[in-house]
Amino acid sequence: MDLHLQRGFFRWSIMMIIFMFVGVVIKPNEALSSNRRILFDSVLAPPPPVGICESFVIIHGYQCQEFHVKTEDGYVLNIQRIPGRSSGGGQVNNQPVLLQHGVFMDGVTWLLNSPQQSLPFILADTGFDVWIANTRGTRFSRQHVSLDATQSAFWNWSWDELVDYELPATFDLVFNQTGQKLHYVGHSLGTLIALASFSEGKLVDKVRSAALLSPIAYLSHMTSAIIVLAAKAFVGEIIELMGVAEFNPKGKEVAHFLNALCNNPGIDCYDIMSLITGTNCCLNVSTVDLFLKNEPQPTSTKNLVHLAQTVRDGIVSKFNYGIEARNLEHYGEDMPPIYNLSNIPSNVPLFFGYGGKDALADVGDVGLLLDKLKFHEGDDLTTVFIKDYAHADFIMGVNAKEMVYDALIAFFKRH
Ligand SMILES: *[C@@H]1O[C@H](CO)[C@@H](O)[C@H](O)[C@H]1NC(C)=O
Ligand SMILES: *[C@@H]1O[C@H](CO)[C@@H](O)[C@H](O)[C@H]1NC(C)=O
Ligand SMILES: *[C@@H]1O[C@H](CO)[C@@H](O)[C@H](O)[C@H]1NC(C)=O
Ligand SMILES: *[C@@H]1O[C@H](CO)[C@@H](O)[C@H](O)[C@H]1NC(C)=O
Repeated sequence: MDLHLQRGFFRWSIMMIIFMFVGVVIKPNEALSSNRRILFDSVLAPPPPVGICESFVIIHGYQCQEFHVKTEDGYVLNIQRIPGRSSGGGQVNNQPVLLQHGVFMDGVTWLLNSPQQSLPFILADTGFDVWIANTRGTRFSRQHVSLDATQSAFWNWSWDELVDYELPATFDLVFNQTGQKLHYVGHSLGTLIALASFSEGKLVDKVRSAALLSPIAYLSHMTSAIIVLAAKAFVGEIIELMGVAEFNPKGKEVAHFLNALCNNPGIDCYDIMSLITGTNCCLNVSTVDLFLKNEPQPTSTKNLVHLAQTVRDGIVSKFNYGIEARNLEHYGEDMPPIYNLSNIPSNVPLFFGYGGKDALADVGDVGLLLDKLKFHEGDDLTTVFIKDYAHADFIMGVNAKEMVYDALIAFFKRH
C-alpha cells in the first residue's frame, strides 16, 4: 500500500476500534440526527468542574465520598464510594462491591440512567457499599506523583500495568477502608484485567466473587475479518505514527476524520457501526446523549496496541514488544508470557453476563473462555445469556435490572 492509503486505513482502523469498544449503537431510525449532532459537537467540550459524586450521585439524594489512591507506579486514581442504605444502626456491615469500567469509559458510565435503572444505585438500595473505579488517563484520574499527562512517559502502560498496579491499589483501598473482602463487577476491559489478575493468583485473597459483564479475553471470533484486519493495521502502525502517547478519541485528528467521513452523503456511520459492533437493543436515547457528552475517554496507544495484539494472536498474554530482543529484555523470553486462565482458582465464584448481539464479547469467544474455567463447579460458575443484548446494554440498558442485575445481586448474596 502507498503511504497515503496506509494512513487512511490506519485512521479508519482507529475509528473501528473506538466504535467497537464504546459499542454505542442505536437503531438508525431513533434520534439519528440528534446523536450525530451531539457526537461531533461535543468533541472538544471541557470536563465538568466538579467531581463525579457531586455531578452524578448526590443529585439523586445518595451519600457519596470521593477517594484518591496512589498506585505503586505513581498514578493517583479517583474513586467514588456510595455507602448504600444503612442496615440498622449504620453502614458498617454493608458488603463492598467494586465497579470497574472498560476502555474509553470512566466511572460515570455506570451512573447515566435513572437511579432505578443504574447498577450502583440499585446495589446501594439493596444494602451494598458501592465503590466506583476510574482508570488512569480518564478525566478524573490524570494525576501522577512525578509525571504530567502531557508527557509521553505518563502514557507508557498497557493493560498489564492495570493488572500489576492499578487493580491491586484499588482493591487495597476498598479492603483497607471496609475491612472486608469485596465483590467485583467488571465490564469489557474490566473483565479481562480481573481474569488476568486471578490467573496469576493475585487479589484472590481479597475477592468474595466476581461478576463479568461482556467478558473479553479471547477476541479471535470477533465478528468479521474487517476488525481483525483493522487490528493488524493498528498493531503495525500506531506506535510508528503516534509513539507512546495519549490516545484521545475526542482529539482533533480523530474528530476531523470522523466528521469528514460521516458527513459524506454516501456513508451512513450508523450502518457501519451496527455492522461492526452489533446493535444494542435497549438504550434510552436521552441516556445515549448524556453518554456522548461524557465519553469516550482517553487511553494510551500502548493499551490499544496490546488489545489489538489480543485480537490478532488469539491468546491472552502480556504486551508483545514485537522484537525478540526487547521481549527478552523485559521478560527473559523471546515471547511474552501468557496469562493462563485455567489457573484461576476454582473457588473464586464467577458470574458471566453476555449477549447474543455483542460483536466484541462474541458468543464463540465467551465459549472458549468458559471452557478454560470448566473446573469451576455448580454455583461457582453462573452464566446469564441475553439473546438481544450488545456491549453497552449491560451498563446502560433500560431493562438491565430485570435482565442482568437482579440475577447478579442474587449471586452476590449467595457468596
Ligand atoms: C517505557 O517504559 C519502558 C520500561 O518498561 C522503557 O524501556 C521505555 O523507555 C519507556 N518509554 C517511554 C517513552 O517512556
Ligand atoms: C492498605 O493496608 C496495607 C497494610 O496496612 C498497606 O500496606 C497499604 O498501603 C494500604 N493500601 C491502601 C491503598 O490503603
Ligand atoms: C429515558 O430517559 C429519560 C430522561 O432521563 C426519562 O425521562 C425516560 O423515562 C427514560 N425512558 C425509559 C424507557 O427509561
Ligand atoms: C494452563 O494451566 C493448566 C492448569 O493448571 C495446565 O493444565 C495447562 O497445561 C496450562 N497451559 C499452558 C499453555 O501453560
